[in-house]
Amino acid sequence: MKMKINGRTKVCGVIGKPIAHTMSPVIHNTLACELQVNLAYLPFLVEENIASAIEGAYHLGMLGLNVTVPYKSDVIGSLSEIDELAEKIGAVNTLVRQDTGYKGYNTDLPGLYRAMESDGVHIAGEEMIVLGAGGAARAVAFMCAAYGVKKLYLLNRNVEKARLVAKEVNDKSEREFVIPMALEEYPQLPNKKMIAIQATSVGLSPNVEDVVIADSAFYDKIHTGYDLIYKPTNTKFMELVKANGGVAYHGLKMLLYQGIIAFELWNETIVPEDLVNMVYQKMKEEMGINE
Ligand code: ATR
Repeated sequence: MKMKINGRTKVCGVIGKPIAHTMSPVIHNTLACELQVNLAYLPFLVEENIASAIEGAYHLGMLGLNVTVPYKSDVIGSLSEIDELAEKIGAVNTLVRQDTGYKGYNTDLPGLYRAMESDGVHIAGEEMIVLGAGGAARAVAFMCAAYGVKKLYLLNRNVEKARLVAKEVNDKSEREFVIPMALEEYPQLPNKKMIAIQATSVGLSPNVEDVVIADSAFYDKIHTGYDLIYKPTNTKFMELVKANGGVAYHGLKMLLYQGIIAFELWNETIVPEDLVNMVYQKMKEEMGINE
């Protein structure tokens, strides 16, 4: 289907620095075309002065924006309202137009949740492992709190950082469910198979042979592994999960669903699953991924 732009076309876009690599225009313009929504989505390189950019976007009547690196926390100062999960995480990637300004959401983590659900992986009531205690891992821990994970073992090289994240997430979610551990303490994990999320930067291209824990005894405790990395689409972590009989997924679907959820927020709609799959294929084609 062809896109038609006219006097009533609503405009959305993504702001960041750099921005040329973004997949978001593919996601949103495909959804708009297929669902016959009169919306156009463009990339905007914002070199500096993010607050003026947001103000300008609002006064230009833009329906919404996605926000990417390095502005996900800077943008919070320009919002009229913020969603509860986004506030806890301290990072906003989606702005939705309201009467008095933009409301900020974080759709990255609900995106991971929707990706997991679509893979048939349900985290409510589960005990889980998260590798890392940086920005991504911390956000994952808040997502686990929001979606009812029973217990979370948070393993990090710097155990002090793991302790800080655990304390913050436990305090804000008012339950003691995150247990901080040093990486080398993995033999003390319970002897059962769990879901694990790899939320460090280790294994990212070009360092594709790197992995946070290499011992196969660790992977005996994992039945399902998610790597937030999607370059490469088969990380060493994923390989080790699979080599020990588990199922492993990369982070590309999370990227897809953060966009799907943003589109749903802007247009007050639900994107049907067959269309989600079609957009996913399109994204993979665009990125030269054929699996
Ligand atoms: P992001 O925003 O992607 O989470 P970050 O906040 O810089 O990035 O966090 C990077 C994460 O990867 C941290 O958990 C970091 O561990 P430390 O807190 O101990 O530094 C982890 N990481 C990076 N390089 C690592 C390595 N070589 N071995 C183990 N963990 C590593």
